[in-house]
Amino acid sequence: MGAGCGRRVVVLTYSRQELFAHHGNSSLAYGTQNEMDGECLGKKKKGGTSLNSTDTETATQTPVLQVRNVSKRFGGVKALNNVSLEVHRGEIKGLVGDNGAGKSTLIKIIAGVYPPDGGEVLINGEPVHFSSPRDARKYGIETVYQNLALSENLDVPSNFFLGRELVVGGLLKPLKLMRLGEMQKRARQAIEDLHVKIPAITSQVRWMSGGQRQAVAVARSAFWKGQLLLLDEPTAALGVEESGEVMRLLKNLATEQKISMIVISHNLEHVWSLCDSIDVLRQGKKVASVRKDETTPEEVVGFITGAHAVAGSK
Ligand SMILES: Nc1ncnc2c1ncn2[C@@H]1O[C@H](COP(=O)(O)OP(=O)(O)O)[C@@H](O)[C@H]1O
Ligand SMILES: [Mg+2]
Repeated sequence: MGAGCGRRVVVLTYSRQELFAHHGNSSLAYGTQNEMDGECLGKKKKGGTSLNSTDTETATQTPVLQVRNVSKRFGGVKALNNVSLEVHRGEIKGLVGDNGAGKSTLIKIIAGVYPPDGGEVLINGEPVHFSSPRDARKYGIETVYQNLALSENLDVPSNFFLGRELVVGGLLKPLKLMRLGEMQKRARQAIEDLHVKIPAITSQVRWMSGGQRQAVAVARSAFWKGQLLLLDEPTAALGVEESGEVMRLLKNLATEQKISMIVISHNLEHVWSLCDSIDVLRQGKKVASVRKDETTPEEVVGFITGAHAVAGSK
C-alpha cells in the first residue's frame, strides 16, 4: 500500500474545515476535496499533539479495501469520476446517492464485473486487477444484489456450493461425483450458526420469502469466508420485519466475524441502524465521507441532493 495515504479515513465536512488525525475506532479526519482525491493528511492533530497509541494502532492497519481515483465511462456517460474510498476490517460503510450517481458501477468494479478505465483497487494493500467476479471471490469479495442473489430452482446447499461444488476424488477427475451429503451438512451448519430462519434447507429457494433468500445469500457469503461483502440494495424488496432480520445478520457478521461491508441503500434509516460510516456519490463524484456519529441524516441528505456545496470540488 502507499505509505501514509492508505492508513487513514479521510472525512470531508463543509462546516468544519479542520485537519485532524485518526483516533481510535471512531476515527475521524477532516480534509478538503483535494485530500479526498488522494493526498495525505498531516500526522499531527490540530494543535500539534502527536498520535497516541490507539492512533498508531489504527493508523498501521491496512484497510481491507482501498479504491483510488477510479473512473468509469459508458459511452458519453461518466459514471465514475476520480472516486476514492476505503473500508477497514469489520467496518460497515453505507454508500448513498441519488439514482444514477454511480453506486452500482463502483460496486461492480470492486466485484470484478467491470474493469475501471483509470485508478486502482487494492485489497489488503495489494493492487488487484479482476477480470471477473470469480477473480474477486478468490480475494474474499462476495456480492449480494437485490434480485440476482440465488438460483430459484435449487435448494440451499446447491446454492451455497454453486460453481464451487465439493466433488469426490478432486476436480481433475473426468467423472465428478458431488458430495451431496457433505455439502448439505456444511450448509446446514452455516445456516444454524447464523441463526437464519428458513423452512427447510432442502426446499427450493423459489418457495422462500425475499428476506429468507437474502439471508441465505448473506450466509453463503459468510460461509465462503468473504472478507468484504458488497450489498447493492439488499433490503429494497423486503418488508420491515424481513429487512430487520437481514440487517441483524449483517451486523453480526461485521462484529463477530469482522467482515467488512459496503451497503448501498436508499433507506437512510437502514443506513443509520447498520453503518459505521457513510460515503456519498453525486453525479459520479464522491462528495462526502463521514462517520455516522459525526453527522446527521439531514446533513447526508444535503450531500446527496447537492444542497451542501462541496468545498474544493472539481
Ligand atoms: N452498463 C451500462 N451501460 C451504459 N450506461 C450505464 C451502465 N451502467 C450504468 N450506466 C450509467 O452510469 C450511470 C451510473 O449508474 P449506476 O452506477 O447504476 O448508478 P446508481 O447505482 O447510483 O443508481 C448512470 O447514468 C447509468 O445510466
Ligand atoms: Mg444502482
